[in-house]
Parts: sequence; structure tokens; C-alpha cells
Amino acid sequence: MAENNITLPPSEASNDTSENSENKPSKDEKLQKRKERWETRKNNFKKHKKQKKEVKQEQKKKNSDDFFTKMRDELAPEEFEKLVEENKKKKEERIRSQRMKKENLINKLKQATENGITNDCNVCINVDCSFNDKMTNNEVISLAQQLGKCYAAYKRMENPFYMTFTSLQGELYNSLKKFEGFPEKWMMKLTDQHFTKEFEDKLKENKVIYLSADAENEITEFEKGHVYVIGGIIDRNRHKNLCNEIATKEYNIPTAKFPLDKHIDMKACSVLTTNQCVEIIADCIELKQTKPELTNFEIWGQALEKIIPKRKRKHQENQGEQVEDESAEQ
Ligand SMILES: C[S@@+](CC[C@H](N)C(=O)[O-])C[C@H]1O[C@@H](n2cnc3c(N)ncnc32)[C@H](O)[C@@H]1O
Repeated sequence: MAENNITLPPSEASNDTSENSENKPSKDEKLQKRKERWETRKNNFKKHKKQKKEVKQEQKKKNSDDFFTKMRDELAPEEFEKLVEENKKKKEERIRSQRMKKENLINKLKQATENGITNDCNVCINVDCSFNDKMTNNEVISLAQQLGKCYAAYKRMENPFYMTFTSLQGELYNSLKKFEGFPEKWMMKLTDQHFTKEFEDKLKENKVIYLSADAENEITEFEKGHVYVIGGIIDRNRHKNLCNEIATKEYNIPTAKFPLDKHIDMKACSVLTTNQCVEIIADCIELKQTKPELTNFEIWGQALEKIIPKRKRKHQENQGEQVEDESAEQ
């Protein structure tokens, strides 16, 4: 595609021998190359992580085998039997306690989903998925991956908020089907309804806040009984200010941004991905519950420090950091 959206016929395009058209890759080619580079780095990182895990597991098994071989030689047969028996019991206990922890987490998620936001004792985090028409097919697929990460972070919460995805439909919904158990086993509210309908009552009570990097106000804490909306969109900054504008002008609801400036020296813009936002909020809410001695300022500091990738900050290396597909991040 030539400039100004004029497509040259193949003969003219191939006759164009100017330096620019010969050497400069097109925007699409550059994007494709960039995607491929990220893909390779991501795969290498995953491979490295897997190998490290395998080496660690092997070492652990070897240490255990060595220990028991040594004990077999050193102990009397009945003492050795006792040691093996104790070890077996400890292992069973560990498995039982892990299983109980998992069941406990599942029950809490079910409870949070059943309670909803009607009783004002929890916070609701909603991802507004009404932007399918503003994204390319690849961006929709990447957004589905980000929503998968949102759910994974949510599932790990000890004190889960009420999480909802609204306006979930079309290609985005279809792309999510590749996740195990979606939608019937996901322990959260999934709906094709728009958030303004889903939270009609909360809107009337002025308890809905749209989060946006372009907002003027900064959020200090997440208040119970309130719904915080995150834009489910990847637009690589094509639609600057979109969510802020829709929220204030179309829905007439307040907007707020994360206090990034106070804590992190960002390399470029302060627009985060949908899943990073959910992860940051999950961390803030967990820290508030588990470390009541922390101030809101300290909570934000710790959550932002943990979630915002080092490669997005000034003067920081990204040693050993999980590499994502940056070309489709925001
Ligand atoms: C990739 S961003 C979307 C950018 C889009 N151009 C827009 O208008 O918001 C995805 C969503 O994450 C949330 N978000 C991203 N950065 C944020 C920040 N610094 N503070 C608050 N929310 C943020 C917003 O809800 C945003 O809609």
C-alpha cells in the first residue's frame, strides 16, 4: 500500500526503483517482524523457564533419593521403615492442605459471584468488552488472552472482589472458548449485557467509576459498594482518550487514573493493559486486607512496583522478565 491509501498497480509498483520503496519495509512488514521477534523471545523465555523448573525438580528428587539411600545404610531396618512412614504421612498432609486451600479459594470465588455487588460489602471490577468494532482481529485475539490473565489473577485472590465482564460477545467470546472451562466453569459473572444496564442501580447511586489513563482525577482507594470499570480494548494508542470521553460525555460518569506519577518513572505513556489494571487492583485489595498497617500510598507503591514491567520504566533493565507480545499490548 503506497502513501495516501493509493494502491499502485503491480507493474508500476515493481518499476518504482527509488531508494525509499526498495529498502524501506512497509508498516505491516515492520509490525510482522516485530511480532516475530517478540514471539521468538517469548518462546525462548518459556523454554528457559521450563528447563529451569525441570532441573530444579530433578535436583530435588536426587537430593531426596540420596538422603534415603544414606539413611538406609545408617539406620536400623525398623528405624528406616519409621522414617519412610513419617515422610509418607508428611507428603499426604501437604497434598491435603494444598487441596483444602484450593477448595477454600473456589468457595470464596463462588461466594463473591453469588453475593454480587448488591450488598455493598465488596468492590466490583468490571471489564467493559464493548469495543470489538474498534479492534483488528489480532487485537481481539490478544484481548482474549488478556482476559484469560485477568481471570487467572482473580482466581489466585484470597479475598476476591466481584469480577464481571460485560458486553461479552462476537469474536471476543469465541476466542475465549479456547480457555479450559470457559464459560460454564469460570467462577465470575460473564454477560453480553452492557455495563450501563448491568449496573443500572449503581449508576443511579453514582457508584460507578470508569478507569482511564486520560482521567484528570487520581484514585486513592477502592471503595466498597462501588463498580470500577476497565476498558477491554487493545488499540495501540489509536483511540487516545476514548474511554475517558465516552464515560464523561456519553454515560456521564466520573473517571479516574492510577497514581502512576507518584510511584513509577514510566518510559513513555502511562496507558496500561487491561490485565495489568486488574492485577494491580487485585494486589491493592489483597494488601489492604492482609496488611492493614499499610497506608494507601504504600499499598499503591507495592502493587505498581510488582505489576508494571521493568521494560516500561525509565532506567531499568528487564532481566529475566516475562516477555509479552508488546506489539499488541495496549
Ligand atoms: C489499553 S487501555 C485502553 C486505552 C484506550 N485508548 C482508552 O481510551 O482508554 C485499557 C484500559 O485500561 C485502563 N487503564 C489503562 N491505563 C490506566 C491508568 N494509568 N489508570 C487507570 N486506568 C488505566 C483503562 O480502563 C483503559 O480503558
